[in-house]
Amino acid sequence: MRVLVIGGTGHVGTYLVPRLVRLGHEIIVVTRGQREPYHADPAWGAVRRVKMDRQREEAAGSFGRNVRDLKADAVVDMLCFTPESARQLAEALRGHVRHLLHCGTIWVHGYPVEPPVTEDQPRKPLEEYGILKNEAESYYLGQAQQRGFPVTCLNPGHIVGPGWEPVSPTACHDMQTFAKLARAEEVVLPNIGMETLHHVHADDVAQAFEKAMTHWSASVGEAFHVVSPSALTLRSYAEAVASWFGQKANLRFAPFEEWLETVPPDFRGSARAHVEHSSNFSCAKAMRLLGYSPRYTSLEAVRESVNWLIEHGRLTV
Ligand SMILES: NC(=O)c1ccc[n+]([C@@H]2O[C@H](COP(=O)([O-])OP(=O)(O)OC[C@H]3O[C@@H](n4cnc5c(N)ncnc54)[C@H](OP(=O)(O)O)[C@@H]3O)[C@@H](O)[C@H]2O)c1
Repeated sequence: MRVLVIGGTGHVGTYLVPRLVRLGHEIIVVTRGQREPYHADPAWGAVRRVKMDRQREEAAGSFGRNVRDLKADAVVDMLCFTPESARQLAEALRGHVRHLLHCGTIWVHGYPVEPPVTEDQPRKPLEEYGILKNEAESYYLGQAQQRGFPVTCLNPGHIVGPGWEPVSPTACHDMQTFAKLARAEEVVLPNIGMETLHHVHADDVAQAFEKAMTHWSASVGEAFHVVSPSALTLRSYAEAVASWFGQKANLRFAPFEEWLETVPPDFRGSARAHVEHSSNFSCAKAMRLLGYSPRYTSLEAVRESVNWLIEHGRLTV
């Protein structure tokens, strides 16, 4: 197949594109051409790169048409954040593609209702990102039901991998949390540290996209959570990180708003959002219908990422 990946040089594309090349597909990657994948891979030599700025083309009403003109059998969209973007793409691609794979987020659900959350549970997205992603997904699944549009929605957890910073036990991208745990310095957690995070390794997200493509009839018209086998409480996460460095975590607990004051100001919004979501999801549907089999636990994924940051001088422990 000819597969087009919109936004294919990011966290997920870094792993997905080489996987698809190795399966024998012809790959086109659409980006603005501003960045390279996180890791070199000889498979990129076989990839055709097309420069396109989605926002600019969407504003001009030409993005969907430009994508259609590349005549792909399957389109993987890593960059759809609004129902308007979804509509523009679906209207252009209807009748022209065999499969559209949309990347959403577990935050389409808002806070967990009955954790681990399954795809069919009621949703109450909490903020603009989750609300708009949920509307985009609802639009797509409606199109699948009403008009047979061949779309699959894949909703990853907090994506982790070597090359970038994982969400830390203080529920944000403050890398000093890892450094403090490594030195047995005090780390403050909210409440009693029982809120949760749900990571997933970027290569496992790539695996889910690949499997959704190869299990076409089971995946079309469906949404799937793409997460590691289980979530982590902030407390167990902090304790595990300290143990990697031979330490016992030196934890203090504070009521939520008081704790938030201890988070560096730049990270507060993210910390609040991660705690309020307290993500804890089930990937049983993807395992059952797609044969998704995550290779990494949350801790294995984060550890690989933290080791990379240390080895590359981006985290001093
Ligand atoms: N990060 C997470 O933890 C997380 C969690 C759940 C869901 N998600 C979802 O994952 C998706 C993002 O995937 P990712 O994390 O793999 O991507 P990413 O690392 O953010 O990379 C973005 C990719 O899109 C390209 N790009 C950015 N702006 C563009 C534009 N205006 N026009 C064309 N190309 C553009 C970038 O290349 P250039 O800069 O060269 O254009 C790059 O290839 C989003 O849908 C997000 O909601 C992410």
